[in-house]
Amino acid sequence: MMHLVLADAELELIPAKIRKHPAVRKSKSMLLDASLHHTAMRGLENWQRRGRPDIVHVFLLIAHDSILNKEGMLRTYVHTRNDEVIYIKPETRIIKNYNRFKGLMEQLFQHRRVPPDNEPLMEMKNEKLEKLLKKLDGKKILFSEKGKKVKLDEMMEEEIVCIIGGFPHGDFLSPVDEMVDEIVKIYDAPLPAWTVEMEAIVAYENKFIVSRL
Ligand SMILES: C[S@@+](CC[C@H](N)C(=O)[O-])C[C@H]1O[C@@H](n2cnc3c(N)ncnc32)[C@H](O)[C@@H]1O
Repeated sequence: MMHLVLADAELELIPAKIRKHPAVRKSKSMLLDASLHHTAMRGLENWQRRGRPDIVHVFLLIAHDSILNKEGMLRTYVHTRNDEVIYIKPETRIIKNYNRFKGLMEQLFQHRRVPPDNEPLMEMKNEKLEKLLKKLDGKKILFSEKGKKVKLDEMMEEEIVCIIGGFPHGDFLSPVDEMVDEIVKIYDAPLPAWTVEMEAIVAYENKFIVSRL
């Protein structure tokens, strides 16, 4: 099983501090989204990296439509900058339309589960990254530009936890270096989270499932 964790993801509701800003009031979004709220966001700490639900959307689309997920060997989790963890059932079909996806995330912040009434496909809990990682079995690999350069196929083990940053710039907010077995780099330049995710999934598929298909 591969556990894939998007850590310190820049997913949050619009902070109270900027809710009255005209750029925020005229948008219908409850989620902070840099593509809509960038002028208002300048009043927030670390504004350059915040408001990126698009990273979460692409991350979940790639994971849930992967062969690895269809084979039942992938579990995905999103940990946010405010220490919430979203648990997602593997059978969840991720909505392709970005605005509808954001609507779903807003429901999740409101009700903590979606769908709210039936058996939930996604659940949000207040939980630190450390608590989530302690629950997951397998070698814990942190992907980082600052890691040791490796060939991914050589790193893969059947029980593995891959941790990827869900932010566009800067470093992890959580003290993640202390929670993992290895810190690895897969390329000599920064890559988007979804490229690293895709490389990890394909390396795992090639090592553990292609021969079974
Ligand atoms: C856009 S990067 C964030 C930028 C940040 N400076 C960094 O790499 O830590 C998003 C995430 O993708 C992963 N990543 C980016 N480039 C990488 C590389 N060359 N090797 C391994 N992981 C990488 C890391 O997990 C990173 O947090």
